[in-house]
Amino acid sequence: MINIPKGTKDVLPNQSCKWQFIEKSARETAEIFNIKEVRTPVFEHTELFLRGVGETTDVVNKEMYTFEDKGGRSITLKPEGTAGAVRLFIENGLASTPMPLKTYYITPCFRYERPQAGRLREFHQFGVEVFGAKSAETDAEVIFAASTFLNKLGIKKTELQINSIGCRICRAEYNKALKEYFRPHLAEMCETCRSRFDKNPLRMLDCKEEKCKKITADAPKILDFLCEDCNTHFEKVKSLLSANKVPYVVNSGIVRGLDYYTKTVFEFVSTDIGAQGAVCAGGRYDNLVEELGGPSLPAIGFAAGIERLMLLMENTGVSFPDGQKPLIYVAGMDDATRAKAFEIVARLRANGVNAEADLMERSVKAQFKYADKLGAQYVAVIGGNELISGEANIKNMTEGTQTAVKFGEIYSYLKCRQSF
Ligand code: HAM
Repeated sequence: MINIPKGTKDVLPNQSCKWQFIEKSARETAEIFNIKEVRTPVFEHTELFLRGVGETTDVVNKEMYTFEDKGGRSITLKPEGTAGAVRLFIENGLASTPMPLKTYYITPCFRYERPQAGRLREFHQFGVEVFGAKSAETDAEVIFAASTFLNKLGIKKTELQINSIGCRICRAEYNKALKEYFRPHLAEMCETCRSRFDKNPLRMLDCKEEKCKKITADAPKILDFLCEDCNTHFEKVKSLLSANKVPYVVNSGIVRGLDYYTKTVFEFVSTDIGAQGAVCAGGRYDNLVEELGGPSLPAIGFAAGIERLMLLMENTGVSFPDGQKPLIYVAGMDDATRAKAFEIVARLRANGVNAEADLMERSVKAQFKYADKLGAQYVAVIGGNELISGEANIKNMTEGTQTAVKFGEIYSYLKCRQSF
């Protein structure tokens, strides 16, 4: 017996309806915000993530599934969706199409992390990336899209936390202040923090080691260093959120784990799923398109982890719609009546009805039992008498009533009672 790799999960037949519900809600959200789907390969050249996600991030340093292919190229399974979406945008010349360009994806992602509740090595993201618009309204719209998606799922108990991490100009000032603050503490900090000190001190704020967290708690706050442009932008985003009744809190501790962010960053956080509380997160990344070889063009997006959303919904008792069930099960008794049942079912399916017949050569009693287990709403039995009369006896399984319906009229009978 070969087991599933650590940190991955199967989706079983009785669970797939949950996935379909979340994916459907994602697509419906995209539809009303006029966001179009893009699909990128599961693997990309490693270089894309080194330059895109950033060499000082945990994702790139420790977590990537990188390998050499048979042609000697360094290939990486995508650890997130943004870098691939930006590559697609640049490579296909989409910057010359009318802006903004709003895109979304639903994709598997791969990170070699220590698995725990809500943290997997293969997980799935619904992500949105909006290219070409620098206005604060764009930030607000992207956040509304995320919150609309969560609302559609029936998720109520998350907190929207927002922050601004500034642009190149204010970040330079902030980095200087951070270095001044951290320098006397460096000896007490972990090796990773020490290595980040020169290259990217902002990343030190993201360290999960207790001894470092104590030191970073009193570090200077980025919000005190924002330039006028970034400050005005952040104020406007906040007022748009308030005006549209999207509750938020400002958390100056959010710096995000990926290097491409500028200005607005945000996370929808839950306290109901353990340590990995961010179910949906994102922010602006105004330099990334240019850094990856495209034109200088702003962008912003978010991604929500599907497994984390599912865990949150399960833990907080949010209900999922039922999975698919046959509307009708048509039972036969012998060769001739089974053949008729098969024919009726084929005709119903051709009309788009979920209909089932026996494939297991069961007795009529056992077929009834099976139909009940499947959750069929109606069961029709075809016996010798029915073959002669040309009518099936249709039993409504919830009401217990029975009606004789001509074989040729079963579809109209069901249609009158159902909306399908
Ligand atoms: P991220 O915060 O790294 O951002 O991931 C986004 C979401 O993916 C998280 O909030 C979480 O729900 C889910 N996630 C991340 N890692 C795991 C894991 N190991 N297991 C399960 N779920 C996980 C990004 O990936 C950015 N690309 C988001 C973005 C899009 N920013 C701008 N555009």
